[in-house]
This record gives sequence, C-alpha cells and structure tokens, in this order.
Amino acid sequence: MRRLHRPARMHIASVGVSKVGFLFSLVLCGLLLLLIPALQPTARQVDLPRPRPRVKTSAYTLQHNRGLPAASDSAGGTDRATGLNISSGRSNGTVETERFGTDDYRGTYSDAVSVPEGRGQILPGSRSRDLLQLKDIFIAVKTTRKYHKSRLELLIQTWISQAKEQTYLFSDGEDKELQMRKGVNIINTNCSAAHTRQALCCKMSVEYDKFIESQKKWFCHVDDDNYVILPSLLQLLSSYHHSQDVYLGRPSLDHPIEAAERVKSNGLVSVKFWFATGGAGFCISRGLALKMSPWASLGNFISTAEKIRLPDDCTVGYIIEALLEVKLIDTHLFHSHLENLQKLPTDNVLEQVTLSYGGYENRWNVVGIVGGFSLVEDPTRFKTVHCLLYPATDWCPKPKPHNKK
Ligand SMILES: *[C@@H]1O[C@H](CO)[C@@H](O)[C@H](O)[C@H]1NC(C)=O
Ligand SMILES: *[C@@H]1O[C@H](CO)[C@@H](O)[C@H](O)[C@H]1NC(C)=O
Ligand SMILES: *[C@@H]1O[C@H](CO)[C@@H](O)[C@H](O)[C@H]1NC(C)=O
Repeated sequence: MRRLHRPARMHIASVGVSKVGFLFSLVLCGLLLLLIPALQPTARQVDLPRPRPRVKTSAYTLQHNRGLPAASDSAGGTDRATGLNISSGRSNGTVETERFGTDDYRGTYSDAVSVPEGRGQILPGSRSRDLLQLKDIFIAVKTTRKYHKSRLELLIQTWISQAKEQTYLFSDGEDKELQMRKGVNIINTNCSAAHTRQALCCKMSVEYDKFIESQKKWFCHVDDDNYVILPSLLQLLSSYHHSQDVYLGRPSLDHPIEAAERVKSNGLVSVKFWFATGGAGFCISRGLALKMSPWASLGNFISTAEKIRLPDDCTVGYIIEALLEVKLIDTHLFHSHLENLQKLPTDNVLEQVTLSYGGYENRWNVVGIVGGFSLVEDPTRFKTVHCLLYPATDWCPKPKPHNKK
C-alpha cells in the first residue's frame, strides 16, 4: 500500500525492511545455535535430577561430564521429588543471586565449612536458613585396623579436623586410643578385617544404618586414602536437593557392569548397571537412601550383595540403578588411587571433591601440587593441599615475613 502512495520511497523502505529481516534472521540463527544442545539431550540426561539453581557465582567449576542442564535451563518445571514448582520461591535463579550479594554469600559459605575467618561476614537475618551446611552431610570413612596409624592419622590431622562432628570412621577392630581421642568418631563395625566381599559389604551395611540414624541430608562414603575437599563437596551437593534421588560419583569402568542376578528358583538373570567406584568416594541423597531401605537396611545389604555376588560399591550401584532405576550422575570430581593423579591439572586440584594417592605399588601417583612441603615431607600431597585450603592451620608453613602479605 505504501508503495502505491509513495513510489519514491519504495527503494529505501525495502532496503530498510530487508536489513531488519537480515538482522532478525541472524538473531534467530544465533538463538537456534544456542538451543541445539538443549534440544538434543542424551538418553541419560533426561532422567537426571535437575541441579538446583546455582546459589553462588564462584570460581569453582563443576565438571559434570554428562552436561547437566545449567541453572537457567531448569527455570520452570516441577521438582520431581518435592513437587514444588522450580520457578517459584527460592528456586528462582535470579532471586537468589540478587538476595545474596557475593560477599554476603561467601560469608555464610565460609562459616558453613569453617574456613578461617576474614573471608567475609555473616549478615544479620537468617537468609541462609535453607543453604546446605557441612553439618548436613554425613561422611563415612571406611578403614581397617592395620591402617589406623599409617592412613587415619593423616586424615585426622588434615580434612577430618575441619569436619569432626559429621565424619565417622568405620573400622573392624578396637582402638582405645582413637576412641578416647576428642573429635574422632570411630565405630567398630565388628565386621571381619579381611578384604573380602562379605567384610566390605558388612561395613557398608553399618555405614548405611548409621547414616539413616543420623538424620543428616546427605550420605557420602570415602576410603581411608581419600582427601575430601570440603568446600567443593558442599558446593557440589548444594546444586541438588536432598529429597531428590541423587547418586553422585565416578564410574570405575567406561561401560556398565554386567552381573548375574540370582532370582529365586529361576536361576540366574543377567543385569547391567553403572556404579560409582568406592575408592573415589560417592554421595547419596537422603531421599534416595530411604528408598534403598528394603535392600540396604539392617543387614539386608549383605543379602542383596550375596544375590549378585559383587563387592560393596557395585551392590550400591545395583540397588540404585538396577532396582530403583535411578541413574548415577557422573561428576569426575571424585578421584581414586586407580587413576593417574599426576594428570589432574594443578590449577584445578582444589576444585575437586576427593583426591587420593598411590599405594605402595605406585608411590609417586600423587597430585602434582606444589606448596609448603616437599615430596619427602608430604609424599601423599594431602598436607600441601590442606595448607592451601586452610593456610591458618598451626602446622602449615608460614609465609616468610619479607614476602608480600
Ligand atoms: C505450580 O504451578 C502451577 C501452574 O502455574 C500451579 O497451578 C500450581 O499450583 C503450582 N504448584 C505449586 C506447588 O506451587
Ligand atoms: C524471578 O526473579 C525475577 C528477577 O528478580 C523477577 O522479576 C521474577 O518475578 C521472579 N519470578 C518469580 C516466579 O518469582
Ligand atoms: C560391636 O560389638 C560391641 C561389643 O559387643 C558392641 O558394643 C558394638 O555395638 C558392636 N558394633 C556394632 C556396630 O554393632
């Protein structure tokens, strides 16, 4: 119509329109490109619980290698476990970051993990009421009598000192000295000290029961050669809700394990599932742990393990993946002595959740982190890691006076 009345402007107008059209299509293409990954979730991603919106904008990068949806993707929809609208209340991703200025949050955060003071201040009011705190996590350390001196001492001196109340050592022998020690919770499981399937499952069974009894929100299991980086653990678990079905860890194989399941009188049935390797540590939400009860509580764990004749960590995977049909979330932030720990980039070491070190057969399989202690003084590198995390610790090397700060 315009054209008829104002022929002189026709050329200009159509140029304008095509410019706008061109810009519009550029924007559209950009949007489409951004949407492609979101439109093609892999089969495994579909069933994963959505992490809660990130509360903290921090330097930590969580490396979920199956590419969980980012916080913004989870706006809208319903939390499977709680039935709450994700777009409502505190789950509004934008609200949270606005309510907590970075400093405000860092204050509460460092308080929760008892990082030495001076990193921020807790502001008045109870905005942090429903933030996950270290005291909400139950940490089970599996050990055995013969490692009380050689392995446990190092853990008690380092990371356990920062999480005394919620860390429990599950062993298989009396140790009066450790029992008397202040700030050490040691439980004699009365399980056999042999490194057999039955003995390992016996300990896991006791760990499970103690966790259920504790009323805590998260169960994390580690071995006595793991260093737990508490701030990273808290950060990782904060992205989920404890009432969701969450099973976090590192698969030890690159394929699901296949086991023969004994079925009553019908003989054996093949079953395939993923499991998180116990040597790297794993965590289970309370919601999921409660669902495991028929197969895990009060000694049932041992009979479940007998059904598939596999060790403790595989049995956990069997109950969760095969029986409850909840998928393992593979985080790659957990590390066992079976990997090449030298390969971990040094500037990412403190962002991991668990670390480990090589056994006697491989003495130098340690994280390549440099700090106050030499390899001779600190062959596992745990003291060095600890002093980087908590420099105010009394036994950590103090910076020389002429150094800056
Ligand atoms: C969730 O949102 C829907 C639609 O907006 C609403 O009908 C429902 O009541 C909400 N549920 C909760 C728990 O807020
Ligand atoms: C989410 O936060 C934004 C920004 O503060 C606000 O405009 C919006 O109304 C909030 N949505 C809900 C559902 O609370
Ligand atoms: C192990 O045995 C002792 C002595 O009988 C008992 O007091 C303790 O409760 C047992 N531990 C567990 C975890 O059952």
